[in-house]
Amino acid sequence: MVFTQVPPQPPTTRGLPACHELPAAIGALRRQRKAVILAHYYQEDAIQDIADFIGDSLELSRKAASTDAEVIVFCGVHFMAETAKILNPSKTVLVPDLEAGCSLADDCPSEAFAAFRADHPDHTVVSYINCSAAVKAQSDLICTSSNAVQLVQQLPVDRPILFAPDQNLGRWVARQSGRELTLWPGSCIVHDTFSEQALLQLSQEHPGAEVIAHPECQQHLLDLADFIGSTSKLLQRAEQSSATSFIVLTEPGILHQMRLRVPHKQFFEVPGADGCSCNACPYMRLNTLEKLWQCLHDMAPEIVMDEELRLKALGPIERMLAMSR
Ligand code: 13P
Ligand code: SF4
Repeated sequence: MVFTQVPPQPPTTRGLPACHELPAAIGALRRQRKAVILAHYYQEDAIQDIADFIGDSLELSRKAASTDAEVIVFCGVHFMAETAKILNPSKTVLVPDLEAGCSLADDCPSEAFAAFRADHPDHTVVSYINCSAAVKAQSDLICTSSNAVQLVQQLPVDRPILFAPDQNLGRWVARQSGRELTLWPGSCIVHDTFSEQALLQLSQEHPGAEVIAHPECQQHLLDLADFIGSTSKLLQRAEQSSATSFIVLTEPGILHQMRLRVPHKQFFEVPGADGCSCNACPYMRLNTLEKLWQCLHDMAPEIVMDEELRLKALGPIERMLAMSR
């Protein structure tokens, strides 16, 4: 997927520090650029270790809204960095790899979404933050996996609700909130991949382990989970539960924080069907320490947005932040 951008300056890999020098070199560039590094829990361990702030989509949006840094380097995927730009038009928002998209956002093109809305003119439109600015701009309200239930419960009961683009999350929100949702038929390629057979096998091998799952997983897997929540809620659960082992149904990047925060507990990732490693998000994993150094060095690639689109997308994001205080 190619995003609208200022043509990046040709990268100058000359000068790239040696691997072991990268963390210190990134630290120096970060001070020089007066930058803050925000990272999602699915980033590789080394990026999580160097970030100023790590969080889920909601926490990262809040952090992006409140930071006073002049430059935000967003180690996550494009829709996250774009949200940071929508909230901070005067700041420079950089991403290590502009190709870091998201299958949910890609599978919900704005023209098709406009037609879906037009077919349901009386509905309140709630969009998961994993979508493009063009889809956000057509929505009444944005949500993340950590506040979706809480937000949907606040919506007037006399208006039906459209929910896009994740049907797995939408089904879970409908069950939790007791509201009926009309769903856009999208799903995440990573959360669609977990093998039920491998999960059952792991549960058999570790009978005391709690199964904790992200709501983007398919329903047959959520039905086997002891706890369901956003990445930050899964992390909290790992810290607070009396269980000492966990089978984790989400992208395995989160296991790094779990192991750091509760080192005496055990965590098991669930492989994809056929034992593939497609449980790792191919978009999130495009970002590397080298690209992080490069983007701070070049001040590119940068997220640049059309102002009219930004303003349209801002309203539903601000509504989300106000409603989930
Ligand atoms: P969280 O908001 O729970 O971190 O989820 C983001 C995401 O992309 C999950 O696939
Ligand atoms: Fe998108 Fe799925 Fe990757 Fe999350 S894990 S960023 S939903 S593709």
